[in-house]
Amino acid sequence: MSDIRTLPVLEDYAGWFAPQENELSIDALPVEGRIPAWLTGTLLRNGPGYFGERPRGARHLLDGLAMLHKFAFTEGRVSYANRFLRTKAYQALREDGRIGYREFASDPCRRLTDPIASLFDPRYTDNASVNVIRLGSRLVALTETPLPVAFDPDTLETLGVAYDTPGRGPVSPSAHPHFDRTGAMINVQVHYGLRSSYRVYRQTATGGFRLLSKIPVTRPAYLHSFAVTERHVILIESPFRVNPLELATARRPFIESYRWRPDRPTTFLIIDRHTGRLKGRRETDPMFFFHTVNAYDDTDGDIVLDLCAYPDPSLICLLYTLTLPTKRIV
Ligand SMILES: [Fe+2]
Repeated sequence: MSDIRTLPVLEDYAGWFAPQENELSIDALPVEGRIPAWLTGTLLRNGPGYFGERPRGARHLLDGLAMLHKFAFTEGRVSYANRFLRTKAYQALREDGRIGYREFASDPCRRLTDPIASLFDPRYTDNASVNVIRLGSRLVALTETPLPVAFDPDTLETLGVAYDTPGRGPVSPSAHPHFDRTGAMINVQVHYGLRSSYRVYRQTATGGFRLLSKIPVTRPAYLHSFAVTERHVILIESPFRVNPLELATARRPFIESYRWRPDRPTTFLIIDRHTGRLKGRRETDPMFFFHTVNAYDDTDGDIVLDLCAYPDPSLICLLYTLTLPTKRIV
């Protein structure tokens, strides 16, 4: 099925997969150079900390168990603490030694060749390893499933599912939402089905959400992130797309059902942020991206948008765990 070249694993990436099973609390990290005395605050990070063992562990960098990291700066010193997010996914992998839920490129149902597509299985993973946000007073870890996980910013203790997200069934929200000037969150979800769509919504800290825009799509693109300006929401469809029927029937992990179509353009969907109306589509060369960087409306009425583009999605291939004999992707 592959129509993307598979790149060799680079040894430089080996450290990314090294397990860190210890939960630490260090009052003062060794410092090279000098931290300015005025620098005060806490840096919270998130990412994969443990992958398990073959053959039942995580297959991909993005599927390792979420570990929170906290760097607290005060008076020229920096302390450090880390803690796993205590989730159902954590329980399955740490206690039973197996991936228990559908992840980005690992899938227990696929492995068991269960004919029931796990995307349509309500057992979303809660392994929120992709990002950390603040919504109102709460700190929340996110991944691309509708199970945001709240945690205590002081102790890094897991507090449980943070809030409801709109939509049930086979949906995938971005783990990189934006926030408006009131602190409300703006995010996009891909809804998969016979009538797939992109849905942009606004969600307040108190939990209320409002659908801003719904755009039908036949073969949804992989939307890891998107862009917001004062007046617009911009969705970027790379030609890395999925047939929703294939998601439902193929015995493959989620991302491996996506196909790279370099003969197709990248399309920018420009949505009026206030009316939700699709104002236009703009096309450019085929490219793949994970992250937008910045976007704004300039004084000429143009939209300026920065993103990190790749010639194709082969980056995903590089991030399979080193223990796998072969890497099969897209
Ligand atoms: Fe990301």
